Amino acid sequence: MKSPDFIARAKEIENVVVDWRRHFHSHPELSFDEVETSKFIAKTLTELGCENVQIGTFGRPTGVIADIKGGKPGKCVALRADIDALPVTEETGLPFASQNAGVMHACGHDGHAAMLLGAAKMLCEVKDRLPGSVRLIFQPSEESAVVKQGARAVVEDGKALAGVDAIFGVHLWSPLEAGVLGYTTGAMMACSDSWTLKIHGKGGHGAAPHQTHDPTVAAGQIICALQTFVSREIEPIKNAVLSVGIMKAGGAFNVIPEEVELTGTARSFEPQISLDCEDFIRRVGENIGAAFRCTTDLEYSRNLPPTVNHAEMALLGAENGRKVFGADNVRELKPTMVGEDFSFYLEKVPGAFFFIGVGDEAKHTTWPHHHCRFTIDEAQLHKGSAFEALCAWEFLNKA
Ligand code: NI
Repeated sequence: MKSPDFIARAKEIENVVVDWRRHFHSHPELSFDEVETSKFIAKTLTELGCENVQIGTFGRPTGVIADIKGGKPGKCVALRADIDALPVTEETGLPFASQNAGVMHACGHDGHAAMLLGAAKMLCEVKDRLPGSVRLIFQPSEESAVVKQGARAVVEDGKALAGVDAIFGVHLWSPLEAGVLGYTTGAMMACSDSWTLKIHGKGGHGAAPHQTHDPTVAAGQIICALQTFVSREIEPIKNAVLSVGIMKAGGAFNVIPEEVELTGTARSFEPQISLDCEDFIRRVGENIGAAFRCTTDLEYSRNLPPTVNHAEMALLGAENGRKVFGADNVRELKPTMVGEDFSFYLEKVPGAFFFIGVGDEAKHTTWPHHHCRFTIDEAQLHKGSAFEALCAWEFLNKA
């Protein structure tokens, strides 16, 4: 069936979507603390005519799922937005800046929630003609994915993906120029692993190193050796990152410490590389440590799997993106090493994740994500709503 004119309708409701975004922006809440945000979303979805509106089905009172049930039988497609903010003190000077001290929507999730409400509004308006249903997932705690794991909690809870045949998600993206839709047909964002290697030595006086087993020297050699993971262990055409972010050692200039602790991250697009990386860090730690009479132990956590788009879904999105953003404004991107917990959904159902560019020098919207002056080009919001509505409509009509 010919799709409704979501593009024109989205332009008509642009002010509503922008107002929603500004409301969320003024009232940011941290990961798994999105209580008022969830209430606002649930109330709005109910008013729009959604069914099965449920808050906090994930063991906490945050996050919302809801259904738009079409007038005809068919499949179920999910659209997901994340809704949490960051522990950042806002310095944008915007009239609708954060009213919650020390908390800021510095990643665009305010826009994600608003765009999905916009898509929901338009899909509700045509639901009689819709073959199948749309599951709306307003996911808590994306930002705190390492510790609190929003998407993992949603997926494990089971309700959000029950009966879902495909899923789409978007992220407003300041490194990409405003008005451009970016996608990949495979790996889009990396896995995010974290690790801590403890190097145990024997401390002592800084002037008597021969009486110690100095863990700082072992740590230095280990850090250098870790650099060879990418250059010597990975197939050259593949990608990985292994970085040390924290070194903890000692407390006095004249004392050789007992222990050094190294903490870092590892990123890649393949589960095997992540396994190999853990093995490599352990091997290098143990063996270089032993050479310096130190022992080591490693804790390694796989926090986020890689976000890998399903080609068919990515291409469906790109095709619809060309209608919304223009044929010249849809681009296949290189993957990024940043992680995103949309990956948990893609492990369960086919789907794709897209970047909507919001970077515009003239509008001061090119600040990096998580920066205290980060903001978005609001002119892209209604396009995001149209894009999401169209992806859902077209998937259901092709299914
Ligand atoms: Ni984000």
